[in-house]
Amino acid sequence: MAAFALWVFVFFVKFVSGADWCYQSQIACNGTCTGPDTWVTVSRLCDGRAQSPVNIVTKRALPDQRLTPLTFIGYQRTFHSRLTNNGHGVQLDLPASNVIKGGHLDAPYKALQLHLHWGKDGGPGSEHTIDGEKFPMEMHIVHMKEEHISLSEALRDPTGVAVLGFFFQESMSANKKFDPIISALKNIKRPTNSTTLKGVYLDMFTLPQSDMLKYFRYDGSLTTPDCAEAVIWTVFEEAIPLSRKQLAAFSALQFSDGKPMVKTYRPVQPLNSRQVYYSSSHVAAISTVLLITSVLLSVQAGR
Ligand SMILES: *[C@@H]1O[C@H](CO)[C@@H](O)[C@H](O)[C@H]1NC(C)=O
Ligand SMILES: [Zn+2]
Repeated sequence: MAAFALWVFVFFVKFVSGADWCYQSQIACNGTCTGPDTWVTVSRLCDGRAQSPVNIVTKRALPDQRLTPLTFIGYQRTFHSRLTNNGHGVQLDLPASNVIKGGHLDAPYKALQLHLHWGKDGGPGSEHTIDGEKFPMEMHIVHMKEEHISLSEALRDPTGVAVLGFFFQESMSANKKFDPIISALKNIKRPTNSTTLKGVYLDMFTLPQSDMLKYFRYDGSLTTPDCAEAVIWTVFEEAIPLSRKQLAAFSALQFSDGKPMVKTYRPVQPLNSRQVYYSSSHVAAISTVLLITSVLLSVQAGR
Protein backbone atom coordinates (compact mmCIF):
# COMPACT_ATOMS: atom_id res chain seq x y z
CA MET A 1 0.00 0.00 0.00
CA ALA A 2 2.82 2.37 0.94
CA ALA A 3 4.60 1.43 -2.28
CA PHE A 4 1.46 2.20 -4.24
CA ALA A 5 1.08 5.57 -2.51
CA LEU A 6 4.72 6.34 -3.38
CA TRP A 7 4.11 5.31 -6.98
CA VAL A 8 1.08 7.56 -7.16
CA PHE A 9 3.16 10.38 -5.72
CA VAL A 10 6.02 9.87 -8.18
CA PHE A 11 3.56 9.57 -11.04
CA PHE A 12 1.90 12.79 -9.96
CA VAL A 13 5.17 14.70 -9.64
CA LYS A 14 6.57 13.39 -12.92
CA PHE A 15 3.59 13.33 -15.22
CA VAL A 16 0.87 15.49 -13.79
CA SER A 17 2.51 18.46 -12.10
CA GLY A 18 4.88 18.85 -15.06
CA ALA A 19 6.76 21.51 -13.13
CA ASP A 20 9.85 19.59 -12.14
CA TRP A 21 11.86 19.48 -15.33
CA CYS A 22 15.58 20.01 -14.83
CA TYR A 23 18.92 20.07 -16.61
CA GLN A 24 21.29 17.09 -16.83
CA SER A 25 23.60 18.75 -14.27
CA GLN A 26 20.85 18.52 -11.61
CA ILE A 27 20.10 14.83 -11.92
CA ALA A 28 23.14 13.58 -9.99
CA CYS A 29 22.07 15.40 -6.83
CA ASN A 30 18.31 15.31 -7.37
CA GLY A 31 17.20 11.88 -8.59
CA THR A 32 13.55 12.84 -8.80
CA CYS A 33 13.68 15.60 -11.36
CA THR A 34 13.04 15.09 -15.07
CA GLY A 35 16.19 15.60 -17.15
CA PRO A 36 16.39 16.51 -20.86
CA ASP A 37 16.26 12.84 -21.99
CA THR A 38 12.76 12.50 -20.51
CA TRP A 39 11.35 16.01 -21.01
CA VAL A 40 8.87 14.29 -23.31
CA THR A 41 7.07 13.21 -20.11
CA VAL A 42 6.65 16.89 -19.23
CA SER A 43 5.60 17.91 -22.75
CA ARG A 44 5.19 15.57 -25.71
CA LEU A 45 6.32 18.47 -27.95
CA CYS A 46 9.91 17.89 -26.70
CA ASP A 47 9.99 14.77 -28.89
CA GLY A 48 9.21 16.71 -32.11
CA ARG A 49 11.16 16.72 -35.37
CA ALA A 50 12.18 20.41 -35.28
CA GLN A 51 13.73 20.85 -31.84
CA SER A 52 16.39 23.28 -30.60
CA PRO A 53 19.25 23.77 -29.97
CA VAL A 54 21.19 22.23 -32.87
CA ASN A 55 24.79 21.90 -33.91
CA ILE A 56 25.38 24.27 -36.84
CA VAL A 57 27.67 22.72 -39.44
CA THR A 58 28.97 25.83 -41.18
CA LYS A 59 29.88 24.16 -44.48
CA ARG A 60 26.30 22.88 -44.81
CA ALA A 61 24.68 26.25 -44.05
CA LEU A 62 23.09 27.58 -47.23
CA PRO A 63 23.90 31.23 -48.08
CA ASP A 64 20.64 33.17 -48.47
CA GLN A 65 20.56 36.70 -49.91
CA ARG A 66 17.16 37.32 -48.31
CA LEU A 67 18.77 37.30 -44.85
CA THR A 68 19.38 41.04 -44.83
CA PRO A 69 20.54 42.94 -41.71
CA LEU A 70 17.91 43.05 -38.98
CA THR A 71 16.46 46.39 -37.90
CA PHE A 72 16.42 47.02 -34.16
CA ILE A 73 13.79 49.48 -32.98
CA GLY A 74 13.91 50.91 -29.45
CA TYR A 75 17.09 49.02 -28.62
CA GLN A 76 18.75 52.31 -27.57
CA ARG A 77 15.94 53.40 -25.26
CA THR A 78 16.67 52.94 -21.54
CA PHE A 79 14.26 51.09 -19.29
CA HIS A 80 13.90 49.78 -15.75
CA SER A 81 13.06 46.12 -15.48
CA ARG A 82 12.97 43.00 -13.35
CA LEU A 83 15.83 40.50 -13.31
CA THR A 84 14.77 37.14 -11.85
CA ASN A 85 16.34 33.85 -10.82
CA ASN A 86 13.50 31.64 -12.09
CA GLY A 87 14.98 28.36 -10.85
CA HIS A 88 16.28 27.36 -14.28
CA GLY A 89 18.28 30.46 -15.14
CA VAL A 90 18.26 34.23 -15.00
CA GLN A 91 15.73 36.26 -16.93
CA LEU A 92 15.30 39.99 -17.66
CA ASP A 93 11.78 41.11 -18.58
CA LEU A 94 11.77 43.45 -21.58
CA PRO A 95 9.44 46.26 -22.66
CA ALA A 96 7.47 45.47 -25.84
CA SER A 97 8.72 48.77 -27.29
CA ASN A 98 11.86 46.84 -28.30
CA VAL A 99 11.06 45.53 -31.77
CA ILE A 100 12.97 43.67 -34.48
CA LYS A 101 12.08 43.51 -38.16
CA GLY A 102 13.68 42.82 -41.52
CA GLY A 103 16.12 39.96 -41.97
CA HIS A 104 13.45 37.95 -43.83
CA LEU A 105 11.17 37.87 -40.77
CA ASP A 106 7.59 37.94 -42.02
CA ALA A 107 6.44 40.61 -39.52
CA PRO A 108 7.78 42.86 -36.75
CA TYR A 109 8.40 40.99 -33.47
CA LYS A 110 8.25 42.65 -30.03
CA ALA A 111 10.55 41.75 -27.16
CA LEU A 112 9.37 39.74 -24.14
CA GLN A 113 12.44 38.76 -22.15
CA LEU A 114 16.08 37.81 -22.39
CA HIS A 115 17.78 35.00 -20.52
CA LEU A 116 21.08 33.17 -20.51
CA HIS A 117 22.44 29.62 -20.61
CA TRP A 118 25.90 28.94 -19.19
CA GLY A 119 28.44 26.36 -18.07
CA LYS A 120 30.36 25.84 -14.85
CA ASP A 121 32.78 28.60 -13.74
CA GLY A 122 33.14 29.90 -17.32
CA GLY A 123 33.49 26.43 -18.90
CA PRO A 124 31.48 25.31 -21.97
CA GLY A 125 27.82 26.30 -21.61
CA SER A 126 26.14 27.42 -24.86
CA GLU A 127 23.10 25.59 -26.24
CA HIS A 128 23.81 25.91 -29.96
CA THR A 129 27.20 24.73 -31.11
CA ILE A 130 29.16 25.77 -34.21
CA ASP A 131 30.92 22.83 -35.91
CA GLY A 132 30.71 21.04 -32.58
CA GLU A 133 32.23 23.90 -30.57
CA LYS A 134 30.44 24.96 -27.39
CA PHE A 135 30.86 28.56 -26.20
CA PRO A 136 30.94 29.52 -22.49
CA MET A 137 27.50 31.18 -22.56
CA GLU A 138 24.56 31.97 -24.83
CA MET A 139 21.98 34.74 -24.53
CA HIS A 140 18.45 34.46 -25.94
CA ILE A 141 16.41 37.58 -26.62
CA VAL A 142 12.86 36.29 -27.01
CA HIS A 143 10.38 38.22 -29.20
CA MET A 144 6.87 37.40 -30.35
CA LYS A 145 5.02 38.51 -33.47
CA GLU A 146 3.40 41.91 -32.82
CA GLU A 147 -0.16 40.70 -33.47
CA HIS A 148 -0.07 38.24 -30.57
CA ILE A 149 -1.20 39.27 -27.11
CA SER A 150 0.46 36.50 -25.10
CA LEU A 151 3.35 34.07 -25.41
CA SER A 152 0.95 31.11 -25.21
CA GLU A 153 -0.90 32.48 -28.22
CA ALA A 154 2.37 33.08 -30.10
CA LEU A 155 3.50 29.50 -29.38
CA ARG A 156 0.49 28.15 -31.30
CA ASP A 157 1.71 30.04 -34.41
CA PRO A 158 4.52 28.11 -36.20
CA THR A 159 6.34 31.44 -36.73
CA GLY A 160 4.97 33.15 -33.61
CA VAL A 161 8.30 33.60 -31.81
CA ALA A 162 11.67 34.98 -32.95
CA VAL A 163 14.68 34.38 -30.73
CA LEU A 164 18.04 36.12 -31.21
CA GLY A 165 20.89 33.92 -30.00
CA PHE A 166 24.24 35.47 -29.03
CA PHE A 167 27.34 33.50 -28.12
CA PHE A 168 29.87 34.72 -25.56
CA GLN A 169 33.60 34.22 -25.62
CA GLU A 170 36.20 34.69 -22.93
CA SER A 171 38.18 37.94 -23.15
CA MET A 172 41.13 39.27 -21.17
CA SER A 173 39.33 42.41 -20.02
CA ALA A 174 35.90 42.79 -18.48
CA ASN A 175 32.97 43.93 -20.65
CA LYS A 176 31.66 46.87 -18.62
CA LYS A 177 28.33 46.89 -20.46
CA PHE A 178 27.36 43.66 -18.72
CA ASP A 179 28.11 44.97 -15.23
CA PRO A 180 24.48 45.91 -14.48
CA ILE A 181 23.41 42.27 -14.92
CA ILE A 182 26.49 40.69 -13.37
CA SER A 183 26.59 42.89 -10.27
CA ALA A 184 22.87 42.21 -9.70
CA LEU A 185 23.41 38.43 -9.60
CA LYS A 186 24.46 38.54 -5.94
CA ASN A 187 20.96 39.81 -5.08
CA ILE A 188 19.14 36.94 -6.78
CA LYS A 189 21.07 33.89 -5.61
CA ARG A 190 17.99 31.82 -4.84
CA PRO A 191 14.88 31.04 -6.86
CA THR A 192 12.63 33.05 -7.08
CA ASN A 193 14.56 36.15 -5.98
CA SER A 194 14.33 39.16 -8.24
CA THR A 195 15.78 42.65 -8.40
CA THR A 196 15.29 45.76 -10.54
CA LEU A 197 17.81 46.80 -13.19
CA LYS A 198 17.77 50.54 -13.78
CA GLY A 199 18.77 52.55 -16.82
CA VAL A 200 19.67 49.68 -19.11
CA TYR A 201 18.97 49.41 -22.85
CA LEU A 202 19.16 46.40 -25.15
CA ASP A 203 22.01 47.71 -27.33
CA MET A 204 24.22 47.38 -24.22
CA PHE A 205 23.82 43.62 -24.37
CA THR A 206 24.09 43.02 -28.12
CA LEU A 207 26.89 43.51 -30.65
CA PRO A 208 27.87 46.52 -32.80
CA GLN A 209 25.60 46.66 -35.90
CA SER A 210 28.47 45.66 -38.20
CA ASP A 211 28.99 42.48 -36.17
CA MET A 212 25.34 41.46 -36.50
CA LEU A 213 25.35 41.10 -40.31
CA LYS A 214 26.50 37.48 -40.15
CA TYR A 215 23.97 35.09 -38.70
CA PHE A 216 22.47 31.64 -39.07
CA ARG A 217 18.73 31.11 -39.50
CA TYR A 218 16.62 28.00 -39.01
CA ASP A 219 13.19 26.91 -37.75
CA GLY A 220 13.16 25.34 -34.31
CA SER A 221 11.69 25.30 -30.84
CA LEU A 222 11.92 26.61 -27.32
CA THR A 223 14.90 24.89 -25.63
CA THR A 224 12.93 24.30 -22.40
CA PRO A 225 9.59 22.55 -21.86
CA ASP A 226 7.11 22.81 -23.42
CA CYS A 227 9.56 22.82 -26.37
CA ALA A 228 6.96 24.38 -28.72
CA GLU A 229 8.09 24.38 -32.37
CA ALA A 230 7.20 28.01 -32.97
CA VAL A 231 10.60 29.68 -33.07
CA ILE A 232 12.42 31.41 -35.95
CA TRP A 233 16.02 31.21 -34.75
CA THR A 234 18.65 33.84 -35.57
CA VAL A 235 22.05 32.85 -34.21
CA PHE A 236 24.81 35.44 -34.63
CA GLU A 237 28.24 34.25 -35.66
CA GLU A 238 30.19 36.92 -33.74
CA ALA A 239 30.53 36.33 -29.99
CA ILE A 240 30.20 38.88 -27.18
CA PRO A 241 33.36 39.21 -25.04
CA LEU A 242 33.19 38.69 -21.26
CA SER A 243 36.07 38.07 -18.86
CA ARG A 244 36.44 34.69 -17.16
CA LYS A 245 35.43 36.31 -13.89
CA GLN A 246 32.26 37.76 -15.43
CA LEU A 247 31.34 34.39 -16.96
CA ALA A 248 32.03 32.56 -13.71
CA ALA A 249 29.79 34.95 -11.73
CA PHE A 250 26.71 33.14 -13.06
CA SER A 251 27.82 29.92 -11.33
CA ALA A 252 27.22 31.60 -7.95
CA LEU A 253 23.48 31.42 -8.55
CA GLN A 254 21.64 28.46 -7.06
CA PHE A 255 18.99 25.99 -8.15
CA SER A 256 16.08 25.45 -5.74
CA ASP A 257 17.95 22.59 -4.02
CA GLY A 258 20.75 25.02 -3.13
CA LYS A 259 23.27 23.48 -5.55
CA PRO A 260 25.22 25.80 -7.91
CA MET A 261 23.22 26.77 -10.98
CA VAL A 262 25.62 25.46 -13.64
CA LYS A 263 25.42 23.83 -17.07
CA THR A 264 21.99 25.27 -17.79
CA TYR A 265 21.72 24.01 -21.35
CA ARG A 266 19.76 21.43 -23.30
CA PRO A 267 21.88 19.01 -25.37
CA VAL A 268 21.83 19.58 -29.16
CA GLN A 269 18.89 17.99 -31.00
CA PRO A 270 18.79 16.24 -34.40
CA LEU A 271 18.46 18.60 -37.35
CA ASN A 272 16.33 15.99 -39.20
CA SER A 273 15.14 17.39 -42.52
CA ARG A 274 15.79 21.04 -41.64
CA GLN A 275 18.13 23.40 -43.48
CA VAL A 276 20.25 26.02 -41.72
CA TYR A 277 20.69 29.23 -43.75
CA TYR A 278 23.46 31.79 -43.53
CA SER A 279 23.08 35.51 -44.16
CA SER A 280 25.02 36.52 -47.24
CA SER A 281 23.72 39.98 -48.04
CA HIS A 282 26.97 41.33 -46.56
CA VAL A 283 28.92 39.09 -48.95
CA ALA A 284 27.01 40.65 -51.88
CA ALA A 285 27.67 44.14 -50.47
CA ILE A 286 31.40 43.47 -50.20
CA SER A 287 31.63 42.03 -53.71
CA THR A 288 29.76 45.07 -55.07
CA VAL A 289 32.30 47.35 -53.40
CA LEU A 290 35.15 45.25 -54.83
CA LEU A 291 33.59 45.32 -58.29
CA ILE A 292 33.14 49.11 -58.24
CA THR A 293 36.70 49.54 -56.95
CA SER A 294 38.14 47.37 -59.69
CA VAL A 295 36.10 49.17 -62.37
CA LEU A 296 37.34 52.53 -61.06
CA LEU A 297 40.92 51.28 -60.98
CA SER A 298 40.74 49.95 -64.53
CA VAL A 299 39.18 53.23 -65.73
CA GLN A 300 42.05 55.10 -64.07
CA ALA A 301 44.62 52.70 -65.53
CA GLY A 302 43.13 53.18 -68.99
CA ARG A 303 43.51 56.94 -68.88
C1 LIG B 1 15.73 34.90 -1.83
O1 LIG B 1 15.05 33.66 -1.74
C2 LIG B 1 15.29 32.97 -0.52
C3 LIG B 1 14.71 31.58 -0.68
O2 LIG B 1 13.39 31.62 -1.16
C4 LIG B 1 14.67 33.77 0.61
O3 LIG B 1 14.88 33.11 1.83
C5 LIG B 1 15.36 35.13 0.65
O4 LIG B 1 14.77 35.94 1.62
C6 LIG B 1 15.26 35.81 -0.71
N1 LIG B 1 16.08 37.00 -0.71
C7 LIG B 1 15.65 38.16 -1.15
C8 LIG B 1 16.62 39.28 -1.09
O5 LIG B 1 14.52 38.33 -1.57
ZN1 LIG C 1 17.06 30.02 -23.95
